Amino acid sequence: MDKKTIFSGIQPSGSLTLGNYIGALRNFSELQDEYNCLYCIVDLHAITVAQEPKELRKNTLDVLALYLAAGIDPEKSTIFIQSHVPQHAELGWCLNTITPLGQLQRMTQFKDKSQRTKEVDAGLLNYPTLMAADILLYQADSVPVGADQKQHLELTRDIAQRFNSRYSDTFTVPEIMTPKVGAKIMSLQEPQYKMSKSSSDKDSYILILDSEDETRKKIKKAVTDSVGVVNFTDEQPGIKNLITIYSSLTGKTPEDIVKMYEGKGYGEFKSDVAEVVVEGLRPIRTKFEEIRNDKEYLEKVYREGAQKASFLGTKTLRKVHKKMGFIPR
Ligand code: TYM
Repeated sequence: MDKKTIFSGIQPSGSLTLGNYIGALRNFSELQDEYNCLYCIVDLHAITVAQEPKELRKNTLDVLALYLAAGIDPEKSTIFIQSHVPQHAELGWCLNTITPLGQLQRMTQFKDKSQRTKEVDAGLLNYPTLMAADILLYQADSVPVGADQKQHLELTRDIAQRFNSRYSDTFTVPEIMTPKVGAKIMSLQEPQYKMSKSSSDKDSYILILDSEDETRKKIKKAVTDSVGVVNFTDEQPGIKNLITIYSSLTGKTPEDIVKMYEGKGYGEFKSDVAEVVVEGLRPIRTKFEEIRNDKEYLEKVYREGAQKASFLGTKTLRKVHKKMGFIPR
């Protein structure tokens, strides 16, 4: 039987966080043997908020090196940069023409981001149709992402179904794939919000590339509560989040962790969480340093990846053009 296809992407809009790692990145390598995987660095999405060109170039190569350091193997998976495969933008345009404006305006990420920006550009509104194009271009069966991408995935499914019913069966309707534990890692300072690299408070997130000392400091500073008991409950969102992090990096269940800290204070619990995170991130941090400096290798990976992706993308786009009534090139 043919392997099913997986597609996922991460924006190079800054350094990646522990949330990106637990919710998405670390699951990518585990899927490589069972699925046909495509992993993309979505630079066209990153420019929907202002980027410093030099920083964007650096961050794009950082994400590529992190993909490799996290164990994605270019011999097994296709790793590429979105802007190197113009079929994404082309399909995105076509999909814009069958997507109601109201549906895009109702997306929560659009609402959040547009409230924080003075002038809202059309790119921010059209972000989800480009994301749909990323996924549908490769006829992906499943999309491994964190819980915050659920609404975008639902829109992608809607667009695929709308296209299929208007122009006849063309796209696979993809399923979302979220991790059982850690689908939404929360901010260390405001645990009612997700951990995000766009936060202005550096203590609210851990970056994969933070030093071990910074990591420990940030976890020690994490907001807790006055209950004083390690419990896995919504009433103690800070502690709940730290248990989730501990659980997702060790495989211990939240119940086991709660038992381990019965009668113990937050100080001891936090030091242990810090060590778990430091140990959990050490392999990827070490490998990143080795890979990031090998410019030739990185270039080889993204060039070959773009070639493979482009070949597959062209196949789908040709079908789409034919169904929509374009004259073949
Ligand atoms: P991005 O770049 O914001 O995040 C990359 C991945 O990390 C997950 N994630 C989290 N998971 C758990 N807890 C958190 N605090 C957390 N923060 C982020 C995200 O869910 C995501 O899986 N729109 C996407 C990029 C994208 C994409 C795609 C993804 C563009 N095209 C096609 C999949 C398929 C995004 O903004 O991810």
